[in-house]
Parts: sequence; structure tokens; C-alpha cells
Amino acid sequence: MPTEKIKDGLDVLQRLGVIEIVFSGGNPLLRDDIDEILEYASRRFITTVYDNGSLAVKKIDALQNVDFVAISLDTLNEKQNDYIKGVPGAWKKAMEAIETLHEKGISVTVSPTISQFNISEIIDFTKYFTDRDIPVWYCLYSYDTSDEDKLFSIGKRENEFEIVDRKALAKVCDSLIEMKNNRNGIFITTRTLDAIKQFSLNGRRTWKCKALQGFFMVDHLGRVAGCHCLKPVASVFDLPKVWGSPRFESLRKEYNECDRCSYLCYIFYSLHASVAGNLEVIRDQWKNAKLLLPQARTKMINRWKDVAVTN
Ligand SMILES: C[S@@+](CC[C@H](N)C(=O)[O-])C[C@H]1O[C@@H](n2cnc3c(N)ncnc32)[C@H](O)[C@@H]1O
Ligand code: SF4
Repeated sequence: MPTEKIKDGLDVLQRLGVIEIVFSGGNPLLRDDIDEILEYASRRFITTVYDNGSLAVKKIDALQNVDFVAISLDTLNEKQNDYIKGVPGAWKKAMEAIETLHEKGISVTVSPTISQFNISEIIDFTKYFTDRDIPVWYCLYSYDTSDEDKLFSIGKRENEFEIVDRKALAKVCDSLIEMKNNRNGIFITTRTLDAIKQFSLNGRRTWKCKALQGFFMVDHLGRVAGCHCLKPVASVFDLPKVWGSPRFESLRKEYNECDRCSYLCYIFYSLHASVAGNLEVIRDQWKNAKLLLPQARTKMINRWKDVAVTN
């Protein structure tokens, strides 16, 4: 979509009451107009951008206004990271990006994807970055289970990444819960960690999916789906008309029963989709407020005020 159309789409999302947007991909920084889009979005939403470290330094001006820049990095071991990413030099670029952004005062977050490959390292990895006041936000290795019509694909099944040591995952969750008591910068709620622990130990889902309710995806064409694994159900421009429709209500009920994936971000947004869930994020992450830049803090506080008033 051209720039102006994207801005129109962002206006629609704002009118709908959306408070947070995550720009991901592919790589959103590949767009020539990304400066303008991020500037427009970050004045309206809590804004996160994902990058694998390949473009963040080149596009540093575009990142001045966003609230979080998440750089994907899976391990402190250069060779292993480049092997996981399949790109020689990926580790070096990501580490340079993290360092440069941090030095320039941009709110950089490191985002490891927890898999069987790096599970034994996640605690040390977390200590390394949080010791340096760089927060960590996790992904959990997962894969798309069907080839049905979907918005786009992310994960594919890779035996060496699939977490087979479920007890080790539960132990990581316990350790992170413990570490949150005396360490700032662990950007994941205790409730989410607890849900992942239960899921890894006995396969029990303590959450119901809130796709098309607590979160949804919009692709580069403006098509909207509950999550990336689902087929598009509307255009972003039609959302105000269809958001409260019987068709959307019925889709929400269907997605509520879905158990096809375990991507961590969807678990997080499902667990914290309600007003009470939002308040829980605030309580959980209160200690991390001082790690945020002033602009992000202001937006968070406004969001918290809105939540408190609605409550
Ligand atoms: C889908 S990527 C897209 C953004 C950008 N290309 C990048 O690499 O950061 C967003 C995050 O999802 C993670 N991710 C990639 N494949 C995944 C998978 N199969 N399961 C869970 N997370 C995954 C990436 O490591 C990254 O941190
Ligand atoms: S569980 Fe939710 S996020 Fe995952 S595929 Fe189903 S609807 Fe999508």
C-alpha cells in the first residue's frame, strides 16, 4: 500500500481504539517510506518495530520515535546464531545494532526465540542483557500446523529447534519468574510464564485464544486476519463496520476454541486481553517503567489511565 493509504489505515485503527502496534515482517525497515510511517504511527500508538539487526543502524533516524525496537538474536554464540538464522554475519550485525541503538538512547529490546537449540542458554542470555539495562522479550519456537489459506507463514517444523525437553522449558519459566523479583528488564509477565510452564508440563492451555478480540494482524495489503495462520476476513478500512457484526462475533467464538498454535505473543495477548488482564500487565511491569524512554512512559501512563478509568 502507498504511504497515504497506510496512514488512512492507521487512522481507522486509532478510531477503533487500538493502543499498540507491532511492525514486523519480513522486515518493515525495508520500506523507503518507513520513517514517515513510524513517525505517524508512534504519535498515535505504543509502537514496536522488529528487525533482525540488518537494517536498524542504517535506519536509525526512523527509529527515533518508536517505543521499542526489538532485535532478534537467539544466542550469545556467534556461530550458533548464524547457523540458526542461516545468514553468515547475522550475529555481528545484531550485536552491533543492539549496542549502537542502546548508546544512542533508542529503546532497544533483545528478542530471542526459545528453542531446543538455545534453551539451556536462555537464563545466561537474559542475565547478560539485563545486566546491561537492555530488556529481553521472548518468542517461543513454534510452527504453522496447516497449509490452509492463511494470511502468511512464519514457522516450519524443524526437528532440531522443536522443544522436546519440556521440563527444561518449565524450569526456564520458573527461573525467569524468580529472576523478575530482583532484576528489571524481563519483559514477559509472570502469568504468561506460568501459562507456558503449565503448557510445557502437561499440555494444558490455561488461556483461550483472543484472536480478533485482543489482537489481530494486518498485512501489507491491508487485509485483516485474527492471526497470521488464519485467512483474511476483512479489509482494515471495513473494520469499523464489521467489528461488532454477528459474523465477527461468530469468528471470535471459533478462534476462542482454536488450539492450533502456541506462538508466545498470541498467548500473551490472549491472557491479557481484558481490562483486568491489562491491569495485570501494568502491575507486573511497573518496575520496568524506568527502563522506558520518556515518550514511551507517557504513552504507557495514558494507557494505564484509560484502563483504570474503563475499569
Ligand atoms: C517473525 S519475525 C519477523 C521480524 C524480522 N524478520 C526478525 O527476524 O526479527 C519476529 C520474531 O519472530 C521470531 N520467530 C521466527 N521464527 C519463529 C518461529 N518459528 N517460532 C517462533 N518465533 C519465531 C523471530 O526470531 C523474531 O524475533
Ligand atoms: S490458537 Fe489463536 S492465534 Fe493460534 S492459530 Fe488458533 S486462532 Fe490463530
